[in-house]
Amino acid sequence: METKVIVIDENDIDETAQAGLEEAGRIIKEGGLVAFPTETVYGLGGDALNPESSKKIYAAKGRPSDNPLIVHVANMEDLADIVKEVPESAKKLAKAFWPGPLTMIMNKNEKVPYETTGGLDTVAIRMPNNKIALELIRQSGGYIAAPSANTSGRPSPTIARYCEEDLSGKIEMIIDGGQVGIGLESTIVDLTSDVPMILRPGYITASMLKDVLGEISIDRTIIDGSSAEKPKAPGMKYRHYAPKGQLMIVQGQQDNVVDYINKSTKEAMAEGKRVGIIGTDATMKLYSADVVKSVGNREDERTIAHELFKVLREFDDENIDVMFSESFDDSGIGQAIMNRLLKAAGHNVKVV
Ligand code: TXA
Ligand code: MG
Repeated sequence: METKVIVIDENDIDETAQAGLEEAGRIIKEGGLVAFPTETVYGLGGDALNPESSKKIYAAKGRPSDNPLIVHVANMEDLADIVKEVPESAKKLAKAFWPGPLTMIMNKNEKVPYETTGGLDTVAIRMPNNKIALELIRQSGGYIAAPSANTSGRPSPTIARYCEEDLSGKIEMIIDGGQVGIGLESTIVDLTSDVPMILRPGYITASMLKDVLGEISIDRTIIDGSSAEKPKAPGMKYRHYAPKGQLMIVQGQQDNVVDYINKSTKEAMAEGKRVGIIGTDATMKLYSADVVKSVGNREDERTIAHELFKVLREFDDENIDVMFSESFDDSGIGQAIMNRLLKAAGHNVKVV
């Protein structure tokens, strides 16, 4: 299959762009797949109410079919049509954070096929904050199932080129809407338990959710890598977000971290390996390796979130075998950053 790529500027949806979105909408309505930008990461979209579309999504990504998809909507009214009931908590959260990087889990009704929810009676729903995505959802009939548009196991794509790398030839269309704003997937909160529970940390932090709901819990497996329990979001159990090379996170006082990384880099390079280092603006110049990249200023967690997956993909482009990363504060958005970094590293952490 040939994959058509169209370019659209989110801030200037002219007639040509509109025609492109209508074509993309038709593709999805007819059961095809389109990768598209959202504010978090690129999504791989198909008709959420068509079981055949969901099967195609799993096949294109090489994703296990017990790992449910997120349904994307463009209107609040459409939400009520696919769930048993809209909980009060969902109304409050939608008012505060939609459109935006928050996914809510509710009890599904019969309209949502089990192929989309990986066999679960619940469904994950979000309204993305991106004009291309919202118009595409409307053109597609209102419900787009979309996981991140990467091959299963690779870092989520933050630019269209990475969707092309993973999915070219496997899907009908890619909409290139430039670089995404946030760079990490949405926060997932389960509203089916007594106390709402965060299943995946993201840009909407625990304290932001607590401000709206009063009470919030966190799936322990997110924080504790050694926990024997299974994460409640099926997708969180997979070694996800993984770059091709081996990644180690080095934790400790800055001087110790820099010394340890430089020493280990020398050793790995002596063995003929290509080494990449993830540092920050303040430490970049203290390292020497094949490739050294900064994810920004340590205090600026928004930039770190934005850069992390991008840097991991760039290391893949540069055929890096071994990577060392500094560790980050794990409060606020830092919780999402460390969650993704730990998963990328397969929880390989060295304390120095
Ligand atoms: O930001 C995002 O959420 C992006 C963009 C494209 O919207 N999408 C995304 O989808 O990250 P994906 O498929 O890569 O991650 C969805 C996660 C998986 O971990 C999955 O197991 C979990 O959501 N999930 C989906 N439905 C669920 C459900 N009913 N119960 C528990 N977890 C669910
Ligand atoms: Mg994903």
